[in-house]
Amino acid sequence: MKLVILGGGGFRVPLVHGALLHDTAERRVTEVVLHDTDPSRLDVMRQVLAQQAEKYASAGVAPPTVSATTDLDMALTGSDFVFSAMRVGGLEGRTVDELLALDLGLLGQETTGPGGVGYGLRTVPVALDVARRVQHLAPDAWVINFTNPAGLVTQAMQSVLGDRVVGICDSPLGLAKRAAAALGHDLGDLDIDYAGLNHLGWLTGLRLEGRDLLPDLLTDDAALAGIEEGHLFGTDWLRSLGALPNEYLYYYYFTRDAIAQIAGAPQTRGEYLVAQQADFYPAVARHPGEAWDRWDAVRRERNATYMQETREADDGESHERSEADVEGGGYEGVALALMAAIARDEPARLILNVRNRGTVACLPDDAVVEVPCRVDASGPVPVAVGPLPGHALGLAQQVKAVDELVIRAAVEQSRSLAVQAFALHPLVDSVTVARELLAAYGRRLPEFYSRLR
Ligand code: G6P
Ligand code: MN
Repeated sequence: MKLVILGGGGFRVPLVHGALLHDTAERRVTEVVLHDTDPSRLDVMRQVLAQQAEKYASAGVAPPTVSATTDLDMALTGSDFVFSAMRVGGLEGRTVDELLALDLGLLGQETTGPGGVGYGLRTVPVALDVARRVQHLAPDAWVINFTNPAGLVTQAMQSVLGDRVVGICDSPLGLAKRAAAALGHDLGDLDIDYAGLNHLGWLTGLRLEGRDLLPDLLTDDAALAGIEEGHLFGTDWLRSLGALPNEYLYYYYFTRDAIAQIAGAPQTRGEYLVAQQADFYPAVARHPGEAWDRWDAVRRERNATYMQETREADDGESHERSEADVEGGGYEGVALALMAAIARDEPARLILNVRNRGTVACLPDDAVVEVPCRVDASGPVPVAVGPLPGHALGLAQQVKAVDELVIRAAVEQSRSLAVQAFALHPLVDSVTVARELLAAYGRRLPEFYSRLR
């Protein structure tokens, strides 16, 4: 099978490749094509992958061939799976998303709040273009979308390719894994009740042979305090919600705290990553023999500092991420399991971003939602989930309405729809500020925003 990775020079590409190396099944990926707009990043990633294949190839199984190109059509032609992991505007764009919002006193974050709206506005046109090329050149391919903001980008691409676009995120799996481990169970033995939108979901039950163990976890002080969500939200708040929110809900439940933490940090996450990658890519180009080792060290550092600002206490002490969280293993695991289920008809249960069709009550049928799905050769089918609690449904409805406005604004190239998208986001508190945001985007990144009329 041929797998194309869009954003193939991106830093997380070796995770996917590493997972492919463990796949020894008859029907597996034998050809990987990396596509990126930046040829120098592609060169670096090829070095990392070549060394990774030498280190970790499974005995007796040839690792997939890896090639790289900046030609999108060439990459897509004849592909069976397309992983879309591009970052439109690069990490520099991410820092703009963060800083423009912070300058106006708002949350400065990659996917959540005004940053996610700005990021979505510049990403949708590119994602739609990719979708049209896939339709033309690889009409039977499945697109697995990691490109953020993943929910709305998946929804936009579905308008061209339908259900063959599936969005994925590692955060629901990370949450479910931590909750299962805190209860002393294997995740595989539990049925997870989880529903919402990407980066806006709630785990409302963990069932072992029909019995819900979430109430046990919520009353167990030590177990609850031992997981990241216990630190982030506080055990009292988790108990009063009666659910475990996705970590991104921190930005909604603790908005002021988050803004203060991000604004008080020496640099934003985007600035940190810009600096990290400005070191990493040239260093590998200079020392190609050390490509994999350098990548692995930087990967650990990146994972260890994820959401760092939320872990710094006032006394300067900071609580460290657990070793399992630093090791990660979510993102590529979900992608590979999804691909295996489809390609080999190996039934799997995964939390995915798919079209709602009545699964989450009171959200539009064509809205992309994040819910547990059964997957086999015919693709994912959502599992029935209970209704979201009132405040959660209200928030999901409002954010989904904003997603739709972002997509429409990008498609219709409409300033007034873009202003609406910013203004109606629950983390933007004024229409005036929404107008200022859009004007600031136009000044900072005119190549993406001046087409809005
Ligand atoms: C999680 C989210 C991704 C997001 C990433 C950011 O994995 O699920 O959607 O892109 O965090 O991590 P970073 O290291 O780039 O801050
Ligand atoms: Mn995500």
